[in-house]
Order: sequence, then C-alpha cells, then structure tokens
Amino acid sequence: MLSASSAATVRATLPVVGAAIGEITERFYAGLFEAHPELLRDLFNRGNQAAGTQRQALAGSIAAFATHLVEHPDSRPDAMLSRIAHKHASLGIAPEQYAVVHEHLFAAIVAVLGEAVTPEVAAAWDEVYWLMANALIAIEKRLYEESGGADWRAWEVVERVPETSDVVTFRLRPVDGGPVRDFRAGQYVSVRAELADGARQIRQYSLSGAPGDTLRQISVKRVPGGTTPEGEVSNHLHAHVTEGSVLELSEPYGDLVLTDAPGTPLLLASAGIGVTPITAMLAHLAAAGHRAPVTVVHADRSPAEHALRSEHAAYAEKLPEATVHLWYEQDAPEGARTGLADLTDVPVAPGTHAYLCGPLPFMRAVRAQLIEKGSPRRTCTTRCSARTCGWRRPDDGPQPGGEPHGPVIS
Ligand SMILES: Cc1cc2nc3c(=O)[nH]c(=O)nc-3n(C[C@H](O)[C@H](O)[C@H](O)COP(=O)(O)OP(=O)(O)OC[C@H]3O[C@@H](n4cnc5c(N)ncnc54)[C@H](O)[C@@H]3O)c2cc1C
Ligand code: HEM
Repeated sequence: MLSASSAATVRATLPVVGAAIGEITERFYAGLFEAHPELLRDLFNRGNQAAGTQRQALAGSIAAFATHLVEHPDSRPDAMLSRIAHKHASLGIAPEQYAVVHEHLFAAIVAVLGEAVTPEVAAAWDEVYWLMANALIAIEKRLYEESGGADWRAWEVVERVPETSDVVTFRLRPVDGGPVRDFRAGQYVSVRAELADGARQIRQYSLSGAPGDTLRQISVKRVPGGTTPEGEVSNHLHAHVTEGSVLELSEPYGDLVLTDAPGTPLLLASAGIGVTPITAMLAHLAAAGHRAPVTVVHADRSPAEHALRSEHAAYAEKLPEATVHLWYEQDAPEGARTGLADLTDVPVAPGTHAYLCGPLPFMRAVRAQLIEKGSPRRTCTTRCSARTCGWRRPDDGPQPGGEPHGPVIS
C-alpha cells in the first residue's frame, strides 16, 4: 500500500504524468536502448519499436497502477499484474533488470517534467514503481518456480504441417529428451528466433495442440508485407524452419485459460489465426468429456484458409452438446454461411462463459452482439493477427496508456 504522503503527491501529479506519458516513453526507450542496445536486438520487439505500437504499455501501466493505488488503496489490480507477469516470464525477465528500467524511466521523467519533479514527487513515484516492480518480481518468481525456470529450452521440429497458404503448424520435441510440461488450454509459449542479422527476436504463439500431448504444437500465420515491412519472426519461421530445425521456446505461460466449469455453457468464438487457442480449448473439453452445451463459432476468408479446420471439427464432434456455426467470406460449403460472423440467430444461454479470439473487427462485432443478448459472465479476448496481441479479461479495464487492446465485457 502507498504511504499517505506519497498517495497525496501521486494523486496531485497523476494528470501531469499522464499527459506526458508519450514523451516520457520516447525518452525512456531512447535512453534504455542507447545504454543497452542488446535489449532492442534480443528482448524487445523491434518491429513494435519501429512502428511505435505498444510502446506506451510499460509506462502507461505504471500510471494505471498508480491510479488504482490512489482510488482503491486497499486492493491491488491483480488481473493486470498477472497478465504482465506471465508475459514477462515468457520473455525470461530477471529481477535485476527492474533496476535498469527504473534508472532509464526516472531519467526520462526528470528530463520531460523538469522542475516539477521535486524530491517529494520523485520519492512518491519511486514508491509506486517499486511497489509495482516488487509485485511483478514476486509473481514472476512463483511462475518460474512452477515452470522450472526462466531458461530457454531447445526443441526440434519433428513435423511441419502446411495448414493453409499462409499458416504452418510446427510440432516439436525437446532436444534434451526430457518431459514435455503440460499446459492449460489458452496458454502460449515464446519463441526466440535467431534472424539473419544475428538478432534474437521473441514472439508469442498459442499452443494449438491438445493439452497432455507429448509434443509441443504451434501454428504460425505469416504476416505479409505491403505498406509496412513483412513480419520478421513469422516469415523467418515459414522460410527457414523445417523438420530437423531447432527452435528455442519458453515454457507455457498465460493466465487467461479455459476455466474448468463442468456444467457451464460455453461459447468459443474465433476468426482467422484466433483458432489456435480455441482449438486447444476444444481438445481439452473433448478429453474431459464436457457435457454442457458448447457453442462453437468460427469465421474465416474461405474453408481453404481455415487453419486447423479438421481438428477444430473433430474435437467439436466429440462434444455431445456442441453446435458449430461457421462463416466464410467465400466458398462456404453446405452447412456454413457466407459472409462475416453474425450471432443474431445463434442462441446463447444465460450464464454462458464466452472466449473470443480473432482480429479486432471480429471481436468488436461479436462482443457487441453478446452484450445485446445479455453479457456473459466472462469473456476473454485477444487479437492474434494484429501486431499487438494478448488475452484480456473483462475486469482488466482499458489498455494502459493506449487504445483499447481488445473488447472487454464488463
Ligand atoms: C499471447 C499471444 C498469442 C499469439 N498466438 C499466435 C498464434 O497462435 N499464431 C500466430 O500466427 N500468431 C500469434 N500471435 C502473434 C505473434 O506473436 C506475432 O505477433 C506474429 O507472428 C507477428 O510477428 P512477426 O515477427 O512476424 O511480425 P513483426 O515483425 O512483429 O511485425 C508485426 C507488424 O508490425 C509491422 N511493422 C514492423 N516494422 C514496422 C515499421 N517500421 N513501421 C510500421 N510497421 C511496422 C509489420 O508490418 C507487421 O504488420 C500471438 C501473440 C500473442 C501476444
Ligand atoms: C515495473 C516495471 C515494469 C512494468 C510496469 C512493465 C509493464 C509491461 C507491460 C504492461 C507490458 C505489455 C504486456 C502485454 O503485452 O500484455 C510489458 C511487456 C514487456 N516488458 Fe515490461 N514492465 C516492467 C519491467 C520490465 C523489465 C524490467 C523488462 C526487461 C528489461 C521488461 C521487458 C518487457 C518486454 C520485452 C515486453 C514485451 C514488449 C515487446 O516485446 O515489445 N519489462 N511490460
């Protein structure tokens, strides 16, 4: 909890800090990467840095944390902390790196706000930073203990399965011959890929196989170029990773997972590459013998572009109370509809738990229709095909420091 004197100072300076977040972020990353170029090369997503996307997430989340501390002094924004800690753990962030971020963040704050940063203001924001950092460090320590540590592990590709013209599934086994740690449906791994210039860039991929599988499975959509450069890691994986290649993977992380609720009706809706975590969820339900109603919704450009199509259908088939609704923009076969997903005449039982994954326009449309039908209690969202992506919970509130990161049903 924030001390009373710091709380008053933070409350008074929040508007100034909030208004300057953009400039603080610019200065922060410039200073950080000048002092530690290896962090841009081998840890942060350099495409996001170049495009300017997601840059405000870090500083913005500290402002959101501060707001929470002054408005709800007796609680912590646990959902936000957990989401960040899972992401950090998947990246292998170490406790000592928090001092490095602190140094460059506070140098940026002083450079931007100048004399407004009195010793009292600096001390109050220091307290906020370390409250948040120590909370994250504690959660990350627990996650590393549970997952066996932050080390990257080498995995050999034993199968490369072309799914569609732009999606490939990789099935991998550990090079060390050790066990494959199980995961919860909805979790992801980080992949650290060494690129042509020697940089080791990290991206997250949902586990698209069945929990309990003795191999790891990810399905990667190639992000094409056009007005912006082509996606670095997805294109590298498509072009250079074949059977026998070795990839570095983190253990599975991610706290937005399918919650076991045996009698609860579920809605699992996906579009495009958003099918990856949803397929793992269907696999889990099929293996668990889930008997309550499951409404399965998927939208894609065409059946040929529907990645994991046969697994998606086979798992749904195993569920006694599943109804499947498919939409394709073209070539819709019998039983599927033509066009974009539209839940108008899809019945959704009261109390349904909904899990959504797909591009932002799909998420917005489905979310709006679910609200019209009477908000389900829980909706998890992500947008997998955009350059920023991450599951969000209904209680996460707005994306810290940026535009909404995905729809949230509250
Ligand atoms: C939890 C989670 C789960 C995910 N699951 C999956 C999954 O199952 N399957 C999957 O395929 N993906 C998944 N993703 C997305 C994946 O992590 C990557 O974001 C995706 O593969 C793109 O990475 P990339 O390196 O190819 O593209 P990047 O190099 O990161 O580029 C991303 C975008 O930024 C643009 N960009 C780059 N540089 C610039 C610039 N200078 N100016 C303007 N724009 C620029 C690119 O054009 C591109 O559109 C997931 C993401 C998360 C967070
Ligand atoms: C209190 C301190 C910190 C806060 C509040 C914070 C906050 C955040 C947030 C909000 C995200 C986005 C999470 C998401 O996508 O869901 C993030 C991602 C990330 N964080 Fe942190 N972070 C902190 C410390 C650190 C440290 C010490 C490092 C390591 C130097 C670090 C490295 C990263 C990286 C690499 C990402 C992914 C972004 C990308 O790849 O572009 N963070 N952090």
